[in-house]
Amino acid sequence: MKILVTGGAGFIGSHVVRRFVNTYPNYQIVNLDKLTYAGNLANLKDIEDKPNYSFVKGDIVDAAFIDNLFAEEQFDAVIHLAAESHVDRSITSPLDFVMTNVVGTVNLLNAARKHWAGKYAENRFYHVSTDEVYGTLGETGMFTEETAYDPHSPYSASKASSDHFVRAYQDTYGINTVISNCSNNYGSYHFPEKLIPLALNNIKNNKPVPVYGKGENIRDWLWVEDHARAIDVIFHNAKSGQTYNIGGHNEWKNIDLIRLLCKLMDQKLGREEGTSEKLITFVTDRAGHDLRYAIDSSKLQRELGWAPSLQFEEGLAKTVDWYLANEEWLDDVTSGNYQSYYEEQYDHR
Ligand code: NAD
Ligand code: DAU
Repeated sequence: MKILVTGGAGFIGSHVVRRFVNTYPNYQIVNLDKLTYAGNLANLKDIEDKPNYSFVKGDIVDAAFIDNLFAEEQFDAVIHLAAESHVDRSITSPLDFVMTNVVGTVNLLNAARKHWAGKYAENRFYHVSTDEVYGTLGETGMFTEETAYDPHSPYSASKASSDHFVRAYQDTYGINTVISNCSNNYGSYHFPEKLIPLALNNIKNNKPVPVYGKGENIRDWLWVEDHARAIDVIFHNAKSGQTYNIGGHNEWKNIDLIRLLCKLMDQKLGREEGTSEKLITFVTDRAGHDLRYAIDSSKLQRELGWAPSLQFEEGLAKTVDWYLANEEWLDDVTSGNYQSYYEEQYDHR
C-alpha cells in the first residue's frame, strides 16, 4: 500500500508518519509538505533514511502539481493533515486558511476523484479535522459526532468547510472517506506558537507567560502519540463515510494548566517553588475565544477499542523533559521569523 500523508513535517503529521513508517514496513509512506514556518524536516530525522519513507516538497493549493503527483505515484490512500493550524494567525490572515484548508483539501479530493475512478471502494481518503468545528460549550456537555457545526474563528470555519467538502465527495461521487475530529494535542515537536510549548519556552527563558483573558477557557488535552494511534486504528478499521471524535477526557482551565507547567518547570530547573508562576501575565483576550471544548470519544472506544494511554501529569512531565533535552530544536524554530511573529501577536496585547 502506498499512502500519501500531507503535512507530515508538522507537529501531528510527523508523529503519524513516524508511527506508520515504523509499524508498517511493507507500506510506502510519501510525506507531502510545503514546509511552511510550521513544517520542519528535523521532526523526522530518526526515520528519514528508512526505505519505506520518502519526502516531496509541494503545495496542496497547486492543483496541477497535485494532479501530477497522483498520476506519477498511484497512491492507494491519503491521510490529510496539511493545514494552517493556528487560531491566532487565522484572525490576522484568514485568506491563507481558506486557501490551504479549503482549496487545498478540494484539490486533493479532485485528484482522488480523477485518479481513483473505478476503485473508489478500495482507496481511502482520511481527513484529519478538529473539535473546533463544533464551536463552544457552556459549563456542561460534550461534543459528540452528532453535534451541529458552529465554528467561530476563521481557522475553525475553514476546517468545517473542508469537512463538508469531504462529506460532499463521499455522497456525490462515492469516494471512500473518513473524518476524525480531535481535541487539543500536546507532546514533542509542538510548534511554540501554541500554548504549552510557548509557555515552556518562555518559562525556560524567564519571559512573561501570556494568558489570554482571565485564563478561564477550558481545553481537553490529548497526548499526540495517542492521536497518531487513533488515526492508525480509524484508518484501518472505520467503515467508509464514518466520523470519529478523538479526545483525552482531560479538561483543564488554561490558568490551572499554566500553573502546573510552572510547578513542573521549577522542579526540573531546580528553581524555588513559586518562581516561575511569577511570570504569568494576563493579556488581552483572543477575539471570538471559545470558552470550552470537551470531546465525547465513546464511539471510538466502543466501536474500535481505542482509549488514551497516558495520564496527563505523566504526559506533561514527558513533554517538559523532551523540550529541556531538545534545546537545539527549540532554539532553531524560535529564531528568525518567530521573533517578528511574537512581537506582532504579543507586544500590543
Ligand atoms: P502544524 O501547523 O504543526 O502542521 C501543519 C503542516 O502542514 C506543516 O508541516 C506545514 O508545512 C504543512 N502545510 C501547511 N500548508 C501547506 C500547504 N499549502 N501544502 C502542503 N503542506 C502544508 O499542524 P498540526 O497541529 O500538526 O495539525 C495537523 C492537522 O491536525 C491539521 O489539519 C489540524 O487542523 C488538525 N488538528 C490539530 C490539532 C492540534 O491540537 N494541533 C487538534 C485537532 C486537529
Ligand atoms: O481543539 C483542537 C485545536 O487545538 C486544533 O484544531 C488547533 O489546530 C490547535 O492550535 C488548538 O487550538 P487552540 O486555540 O485551542 O490552541 P492554542 O494552543 O492556541 O490555545 C490553547 C488555549 O490557550 C486557548 O484557550 C487560548 C489560550 N492561549 C493561547 C496562547 C497561544 C493563551 O492563553 N495564551 C497564549 O499565548
